[in-house]
Amino acid sequence: MSVDLHDYIASVPDFPEKGVIFRDISPLMADGEAYHEATDQIAAYAKDKGVDMIVGPEARGFIVGCPVAYKLGLGFAPARKKGKLPRPTVSASYGLEYGKSTLYLHKDAIKPGQKVLVTDDLLATGGTIAATIKLVEDLGGIVVGTAFLIELKDLGGREKIKDYDMLALLQY
Ligand code: PRP
Ligand code: ADE
Repeated sequence: MSVDLHDYIASVPDFPEKGVIFRDISPLMADGEAYHEATDQIAAYAKDKGVDMIVGPEARGFIVGCPVAYKLGLGFAPARKKGKLPRPTVSASYGLEYGKSTLYLHKDAIKPGQKVLVTDDLLATGGTIAATIKLVEDLGGIVVGTAFLIELKDLGGREKIKDYDMLALLQY
């Protein structure tokens, strides 16, 4: 690998609130070589898993999943927040640090039996990715892998999705 992806993550203390170190992927996205390298690594993983379809949650999951789908010539389905998808959906609620949120997926986004890679920029508590996995499975999809740019190791996300294979390019 010619680029060290760690060099393209900006760590911002006390954002969005005191005590949180925000891991900002914007510098990685802004650098063509780094964005390419990260995309290629996840695409190689997806190819190895025999993936048919990619699903990612709004908004940063799109940034990771869409270029991988494009690279492999696959489709991408967005899991979106309330009030965004116009046709019939399935939904899954999940806990946030304060309160709850819900993600939605179009009912025809996944065909039963399709092998799906679920992607996001970052794994923290795992609530977002667990909800996304549930949406895929409700539609009969088979989650054959999960892929992230970043895993925050102290927040328990890996344990929450321990039944699924997982790729994290960077760990903090
Ligand atoms: C962030 C991040 C992941 C999620 C990780 O998304 O992009 O989706 O949090 O946290 P978790 O593992 O504890 O669920 P956020 O909800 O901030 O939305 P955004 O992508 O629209 O910024
Ligand atoms: N989502 C949840 N926790 C985060 C963090 N520390 N940095 C960036 N995105 C996040």
